[in-house]
Amino acid sequence: MGHLKSLIPAIALQARIEELGKEIRRQHGPGPLTCICVLRGALFFAADLVRHIGGDVRLEFVHLKNQSDSLDIEIAYLSGSVSDQDCIIIEDIVETGLTLRTLWTYLQERSPRSIRSVSLLDKPCNRQQDITLDFIGFSIPDEFVVGYGLDLHGQHRVLDYIATYIP
Ligand code: IMP
Repeated sequence: MGHLKSLIPAIALQARIEELGKEIRRQHGPGPLTCICVLRGALFFAADLVRHIGGDVRLEFVHLKNQSDSLDIEIAYLSGSVSDQDCIIIEDIVETGLTLRTLWTYLQERSPRSIRSVSLLDKPCNRQQDITLDFIGFSIPDEFVVGYGLDLHGQHRVLDYIATYIP
């Protein structure tokens, strides 16, 4: 049985998410912004972030298949249209960048006005794809983390902080 070690306490998460939300709104301006939450991991992050972005926010959801086999990522479900909209992809964590690259390509084919991306966590040391993350909450080392939406075999998702899983 592994154990958990706190990496980012709840208070630090919430403070950073407030900053990110305000920064996204400041850079985007007052116009409508379609926020695309990547299920399931980004659920809590997206819920907190969009309230700090504020203003004219539209919230959509995308669900990916085969996330455990990152060589074959497919989009299972997108809740609405992105055509002619300014969009921002809300991710929980970016590691190789393959998920974000696949999703970006999928959305791009659906004629959005623009696509940007934000990830709560970034593990840059394992990057394999040349992707741009426009906003990053925290850069973290090459460790497996859980909590605040992130799970290990369905466990630890509802923690209000991010923890390193130590096997
Ligand atoms: P990427 O396609 O390699 O960038 O991986 C992104 C996806 O891998 C995330 O959306 C998560 O589902 C999963 N993932 C990567 N690292 C972790 C981790 O430390 N904890 C939980 N899930 C992770």
